[in-house]
Amino acid sequence: MNDLVRYALDGNVAVLTVNNPPVNALGHGVRTGLKEGIERAIADHGVEAIALVCAGRTFFAGADIAEFGKPPVSPTLREVHEVMENCPKPIIAGIHGTALGGGLETALACHYRLAVPSARLGLPEVKLGILPGAGGTQRLPRLVGVEKAIEMICTGEPIGAHQAHQMGVVDAVTEGDLLAATIDFADHVVAEDLPLPRVRDRDRLIAEAARRPELFQAAREQFAKVKRNLMAPQHCISAIQAATEMDFDGGMRRERELFEELLKSDQSKAQRHFFFAERLASKIPDVPRDTPRREIATAAIVGAGTMGGGIAMNFANAGIPTVIVETSQEALDRGMATIRRNYERTAQKGRISASDVETRMGLLTPSLDLADVAGADIVIEAVFENMGLKKELFAKLDAIAKPGAILATNTSTLDVNEIAAATARPEDVIGLHFFSPANVMRLLEEVRGEKTAKEVIATCMDLAKRIGKVPVLAGVCHGFIGNRMLHAYFDQAYALLYEGCQPRDVDKAIHDFGFAMGPFAMADLAGLDVSWRIRKETGQTQPIADRLCEMGRFGQKTEAGFYRYSQYSRTPQPDPEVAAIVEEEGLKRHDARREIGAAEIVDRCMLALVNEGAKILEEGIALRASDIDVTYVYGYSFPVYRGGPMFWAGLMGLDKALETIKGFHAAGHGDVWQPAPLIERLVAEGRSFQDYDQAGG
Ligand SMILES: NC(=O)c1ccc[n+]([C@@H]2O[C@H](COP(=O)([O-])OP(=O)(O)OC[C@H]3O[C@@H](n4cnc5c(N)ncnc54)[C@H](O)[C@@H]3O)[C@@H](O)[C@H]2O)c1
Repeated sequence: MNDLVRYALDGNVAVLTVNNPPVNALGHGVRTGLKEGIERAIADHGVEAIALVCAGRTFFAGADIAEFGKPPVSPTLREVHEVMENCPKPIIAGIHGTALGGGLETALACHYRLAVPSARLGLPEVKLGILPGAGGTQRLPRLVGVEKAIEMICTGEPIGAHQAHQMGVVDAVTEGDLLAATIDFADHVVAEDLPLPRVRDRDRLIAEAARRPELFQAAREQFAKVKRNLMAPQHCISAIQAATEMDFDGGMRRERELFEELLKSDQSKAQRHFFFAERLASKIPDVPRDTPRREIATAAIVGAGTMGGGIAMNFANAGIPTVIVETSQEALDRGMATIRRNYERTAQKGRISASDVETRMGLLTPSLDLADVAGADIVIEAVFENMGLKKELFAKLDAIAKPGAILATNTSTLDVNEIAAATARPEDVIGLHFFSPANVMRLLEEVRGEKTAKEVIATCMDLAKRIGKVPVLAGVCHGFIGNRMLHAYFDQAYALLYEGCQPRDVDKAIHDFGFAMGPFAMADLAGLDVSWRIRKETGQTQPIADRLCEMGRFGQKTEAGFYRYSQYSRTPQPDPEVAAIVEEEGLKRHDARREIGAAEIVDRCMLALVNEGAKILEEGIALRASDIDVTYVYGYSFPVYRGGPMFWAGLMGLDKALETIKGFHAAGHGDVWQPAPLIERLVAEGRSFQDYDQAGG
């Protein structure tokens, strides 16, 4: 026995306790310990049953991700499961915390399963672009039926203990001490001489599904829609289907083949990259883990417009009392009414209860007096995007806010240092850039000013998680990471219109690439008037968009923008009037219009992100290429199965990306196509963005 798995006796029950903190990952040592423990219990004549539990905060939360992509080392999880399932003495799993992935698969290889009410069980492999490869696709449908297995495996969403009990994943939900309950259950199985059910032998639900093969086609179509372009859910369905077409061992072989295919795929490489990228993003090299945090018990938001209202909802959702300050009663009422309407809609969908709506509204205190932010531990400004206004406001906040309060701005583009300099406490000032709709979008771009204190950064990184966001740290520049890159992307999208495309050509190519929508459908959704106003203020032009705005075509809200919309439908309809403007403006810039294929559209738009991203990285505005990926997936719906723009460039081959960028430069598409020096350097050194991240430069 090794020290990761403890073997003890309680009467005639052998208790195997796994202790591999923090999450009891099923690494090699744990697998070896488990196998030896079971074998010892089998050999031990005094033992009649085995209780399998985990120490610490959770049951096995999954495989050991450090072993990912490496050749399997014996005993593999499948080998351990075989020993367990064939064990002549009953094995009872006692589940607390989360039984995820290989953890749930291990529980399924036991004869009986108990869980505490708070336990959660799931097979989240699909989120890493793979499938449960240790029997999950073969055993789960035998227990719960094919339809429920497809739902659980293809969404990767965990279920609670009570639901698991209803579905038949666990045999009982137990209150009180889990270990004692597991041992009692084992005693009961022995006393009653209950059978040793093996999930692999249960064929009734499988046989039922085998008579309805059409359900697999329906599931394929459903997941082709909700998980567009993703291979893993389709492979999961194939593996589950195999369970209905082959015997258990045949199904296991098929599951393995499908697993191997996914593991080798670019999609899974990208999703695994993204999994680590997300976790890495909140680690800031010069802000150590033990940096002191400030307590955030109360918050205040200034401005109850589009962003302020959404930001306030995040705080109310997390149970943090929040004051919302506006300048007029009308704006305040409008803002509060929007928040209430949003909550009520969520309640109608059954995602929160009617009393949750009131609890959350009760945490929000509307006010017309800025002095009411005095008690807040953090104040977030979300007023109009105007430097003069923001500086004036921050000077006032400086006078009102309590010492030590964090003063944050939600500016999308403005200089956070200049805003901070309007106060006598620039160390307390930080940018907290939420994305619209702020109550939905997961990204929080945190902008570090020159003087921002480390403890303010550390506090805001923790706070982001508390309010359900994924934080990425950015430095100060126009547009920070996300919007600065978006600017480069839109420049190309427009350039393509002038050269020969229509909005639907660009949007279709980008949609097919995997974005939820292309740039022009997105601009229509966001409204064209905001950037038009900014262009007018800053003396810039974008003739196609300017002309649309002059015609009152502001996008979806006016039922016309780059597309036409009807009162009843938000589906963009191409509009001949727009097509004529595009052609006319195009011919003012170029002698003739040219046919542009989807591949060039994608390369122009995506490599613009990559080239700008590389500049941002080199300037130190982003800490890592992977942070840029996180920004784009969570802030701009870049398809996760391509890993983010920087990872995508690596999949394409950074040398090929560079060659294409140089080609665009040579073709006269503008100086933006001057390759970022960092890309040239990495290609010369034969390195990737990931190598750059790992080496820290
Ligand atoms: N809309 C977006 O997609 C988006 C995304 C990220 C960041 N931002 C940034 O968030 C900020 C707010 O944008 P928005 O879209 O919510 O604007 P908005 O016009 O919808 O809301 C601004 C609100 O601030 C209020 N306000 C103005 N001056 C005030 C003051 N002195 N005190 C209190 N309230 C005041 C206004 O009455 C208005 O209700 C801007 O800095 C913007 O750049 C916007």
